[in-house]
Amino acid sequence: MTSPELDVAPRMRRHFEQGGVLFDRSSEEIDKAIKQLLGKRRFREFSQTQDARAEGEARSADIYALFQTAHEWNALFSGQLEAMLAVALWLDGKLRYTTPPGSQICELGCGAGLLTNWLAGEHPECRVVGVDAMPNLIAAAQREPGPANREFALWDYTQPKPDSLPRFDRLVCSFGIDLGDDPVKETKEEFAQRHFRGWREAAQDNAHLCTVLRIPDLETCRAVVAGAHAAGWSLVVSESDFVTIPGERFPALSFVARKSPAPHPDVLRSLWLKKEIKDRFPRALLNEEAKAFFEALGDKQILESGPEIHYWGMTTTTVIGTAHVFGFSYSTSPKGFARLEIVPLADVDQLSLEFDWLDPTEPSFRGFRVDDSW
Ligand SMILES: C[S@@+](CC[C@H](N)C(=O)[O-])C[C@H]1O[C@@H](n2cnc3c(N)ncnc32)[C@H](O)[C@@H]1O
Repeated sequence: MTSPELDVAPRMRRHFEQGGVLFDRSSEEIDKAIKQLLGKRRFREFSQTQDARAEGEARSADIYALFQTAHEWNALFSGQLEAMLAVALWLDGKLRYTTPPGSQICELGCGAGLLTNWLAGEHPECRVVGVDAMPNLIAAAQREPGPANREFALWDYTQPKPDSLPRFDRLVCSFGIDLGDDPVKETKEEFAQRHFRGWREAAQDNAHLCTVLRIPDLETCRAVVAGAHAAGWSLVVSESDFVTIPGERFPALSFVARKSPAPHPDVLRSLWLKKEIKDRFPRALLNEEAKAFFEALGDKQILESGPEIHYWGMTTTTVIGTAHVFGFSYSTSPKGFARLEIVPLADVDQLSLEFDWLDPTEPSFRGFRVDDSW
């Protein structure tokens, strides 16, 4: 018999498919299916609102308001199926072995409840509540059949928590903040703080929060984490990562409901570097980028420094050392070449595993050429 853990991904795919998510369809086919589900008039309204959203004249919520059933809503998100599944798998994995029976689990921004229903099915001895600000989506979620231990509640988490909601032990969020979509003039940090404050109010002390948000860059990531810390959450770096699908990566941040100062900027830089270095070959930053990163490292402990002759014949001055949470080797040449090889200490295990496949006899490795103009 297959163990339940091994077949999580295929079972989850089936759950999504049964919920009305369309698999293996082109974007035209998805549009056609949404058109059929909404009918001509509502589809026209949907297209117009999407255009207005692109122009900044409507908010995401104006689009969400047009969907009346879970099938309509899930069809809408079919274009992002791979991202939704990858995020749901990450969140599922975070809860699977750390959630004792009797825990209270909350899905923040549950839409029409697909993931909430999944989690309730996987944790039959827990109470699982999906919350969302959209009354039409909560009503659609409530109409869908689902496990007896699931509930849905209307809550805009930038507003005070309704008394009917408990304080949860585990909170998960899949894209449940529409970043950059708010008419209120405030900084990214204030925006994040407003959301995380609501989540903190709905959390027991030491509760776990796992989020995957559309955070596009390091600066936004820093603002989100700073906002979370100001609201009483602490980032757990070792439990944070990136959810990856072809061509896209989403920061997957884990927090615990406990006060602590915001992490040193290098800690986040280190976390972000997980993304950068996985995208590149070899694992190094070059030239202007290397210089800027090295400058930004701040206080350094130099362990060794001197000339180094590289295998391709260039002589550089190389400095090896540590800075906060990084180990680095920084090489510069008189012609302005700079190369920073860097190991985020938060990620040493993973890196050493990845170095295993760096085989110098591989064609891709041999194919690596240095530009002589350096
Ligand atoms: C992009 S959708 C993601 C839906 C679903 N979690 C998924 O991954 O497919 C964002 C959801 O978060 C909800 N949301 C955004 N801001 C919210 C807020 N302040 N309070 C409650 N729900 C919110 C929206 O109504 C919407 O259902």
